[in-house]
Amino acid sequence: MASQLRLRSALALVTGAGSGIGRAISMRLAKEGAVVAACDLDGAAAQNTVQLLGGSGSEAGAPRGKHAAFQADVSQAPAARRLLDQVQACFSRPPSVVVSCAGITRDKFLLHMSEEDWDRVIAVNLKGTFLVTQAAAQALVSSGSRGSIINISSIIGKVGNIGQANYASSKAGVIGLTQTAARELGRHGIRCNSVLPGFITTPMTQKMPEKVKDKVTAMIPLGHLGDPEDVADVVAFLASEDSGYITGASVEVSGGLFL
Ligand SMILES: NC(=O)c1ccc[n+]([C@@H]2O[C@H](COP(=O)([O-])OP(=O)(O)OC[C@H]3O[C@@H](n4cnc5c(N)ncnc54)[C@H](O)[C@@H]3O)[C@@H](O)[C@H]2O)c1
Repeated sequence: MASQLRLRSALALVTGAGSGIGRAISMRLAKEGAVVAACDLDGAAAQNTVQLLGGSGSEAGAPRGKHAAFQADVSQAPAARRLLDQVQACFSRPPSVVVSCAGITRDKFLLHMSEEDWDRVIAVNLKGTFLVTQAAAQALVSSGSRGSIINISSIIGKVGNIGQANYASSKAGVIGLTQTAARELGRHGIRCNSVLPGFITTPMTQKMPEKVKDKVTAMIPLGHLGDPEDVADVVAFLASEDSGYITGASVEVSGGLFL
């Protein structure tokens, strides 16, 4: 997609910004003019993303250029609250674009899935998205600012997947959470949408056996896995005023998989 400057005055918080889709989203939003607060559990990875954006801070939360990196575990309520406090302290305003992209998989057949594997995936993917959405919305409402919240779900949240009862449930939950947030926050000028990627080439899908990847590829109408930039294109649109009348939507970026 051609580069535009639709996000010139935006401050964008991206979680999971240290890798894959979150890094591509950070780069795309910055390219469109946004100042990016890049957050990851892996603080060094978030720093690397900031360096790729062209503004570097060597200490967490310290913007040397205009972007800054933050370390946080979004599954922990105090950490999520602290993250929003740190971002606001750093930039003197709440983020007007918030992208929850932090996510994990811990695959096992339902018959063998441990309670721990269930709990951890729900804690990061669903509770983490709730905590960041809530803290960001509270900050926006109390400052009277408009915003766009974008939560990264998955096509698997719509159709399920063998070995991913925990992941599919978490991503289905993200869709429900986002639709509810859209209903509650519309009156405050805050839009909330979710994006449902199909299979995208990132470290997460590199773990998939080649045999499974080939099988999946054969089912994709467009004939190939997606790139992180394909997801970033859609996130940039949802972040911008080009989608000003869209809220509560779930946008599939799957090459037509599971139509
Ligand atoms: N890759 C795909 O095919 C695909 C498809 C659909 C949805 N998604 C979703 O997109 C998002 C990004 O996936 P990806 O493929 O880029 O994965 P990735 O593993 O490359 O990146 C995920 C990032 O999230 C961070 N993270 C993990 N736990 C965290 C926590 N508790 N707090 C903060 N950060 C944390 C990781 O450190 C990592 O940098 C995830 O939510 C994933 O479920 C990915």
